[in-house]
Amino acid sequence: MGSTTIGIIGSGQMGGGIALVGAVAKHNVVVYDKANEALTKCRADHAKRLAREVEKGRMTQADVDAAIGRLKYVHHVDGLKDAEVVIEAIVEDARVKAELFAMLAKMFTGNQILATNTSSISITEIAAAADHAHKGAGERVIGMHFFNPVPVMKLVEVIKGNQTSAATTERVIALAQSMGKTPIPANDRAGFVSNRVLMPMINEAFYAWMEGVAEPAHIDEIMKLGCNFPMGPLRLADFIGLDTCVHIMNVLADGLNNDRYRACPLLKQLVAAGRLGDKSGRGVFDYTATK
Ligand code: NAI
Repeated sequence: MGSTTIGIIGSGQMGGGIALVGAVAKHNVVVYDKANEALTKCRADHAKRLAREVEKGRMTQADVDAAIGRLKYVHHVDGLKDAEVVIEAIVEDARVKAELFAMLAKMFTGNQILATNTSSISITEIAAAADHAHKGAGERVIGMHFFNPVPVMKLVEVIKGNQTSAATTERVIALAQSMGKTPIPANDRAGFVSNRVLMPMINEAFYAWMEGVAEPAHIDEIMKLGCNFPMGPLRLADFIGLDTCVHIMNVLADGLNNDRYRACPLLKQLVAAGRLGDKSGRGVFDYTATK
């Protein structure tokens, strides 16, 4: 596939990573975030990561300069108008995503793809919001679920909503492959495959901690050594973001209509205290010394 102009909405952990991988894969990438400081941080992070690629001998300075030249950062959503594929990576909140996709459906009325990096929210519902705003737009809505950290993780879960067309799915699979990723299809059920299986396990680790079964570090060590996990579930929760974990548990509980998926009270309490994980410097564990 040739070069595509990709518009990214949300320049946080995931949007920033997707943008970087896209630019390195020779696509033109425009990144938009409603928060100026997030955009500034994203740009600095891209420069730092690319400089590290040169230091490690994985990219030449010329390749890095070319990748930086393909990246644009914009402070208004109108800056995305030339995008052929839009990938949304904003907060994991169904209402906020629905509002955004309704707006995108009116803004992009051609054959542009409107993809969401949601970890758990129904693609069919997001597509319905797009359809409502602009009839037929729902067939261009699809889930393109990258994994964290995006430059390292190969998987893209491709989730087809009820309205998603075969052409949209084919284009997204080709785009993911062009970015060096392995796209695997999953159906549109709450949490898809990855979070349906992973997130209840993470939630259970919080219950184990809350009930005093073991200290957090010991819970993680047991799961690493006993189950051959590269990272313990509590460390992984910090990495994902504890707020995102709560959002995903809410989606599972509501979408699967089962209270056994409710977020553990301790997990919710940490979020209320602003302990969101790596991104806030403290979650289950403390990262302030390493920041
Ligand atoms: P994050 O909190 O790091 O970044 C979200 C960014 O979106 C922030 O910079 C925020 O300013 C911006 N934003 C929020 N609302 C916006 C709006 N209406 N318009 C423009 N920008 C807006 O979040 P993260 O971790 O990057 O997650 C983003 C999405 O990716 C979520 O849907 C999440 O479920 C999903 N995801 C997260 C993974 C993870 O490990 N953190 C893994 C896979 C998917």
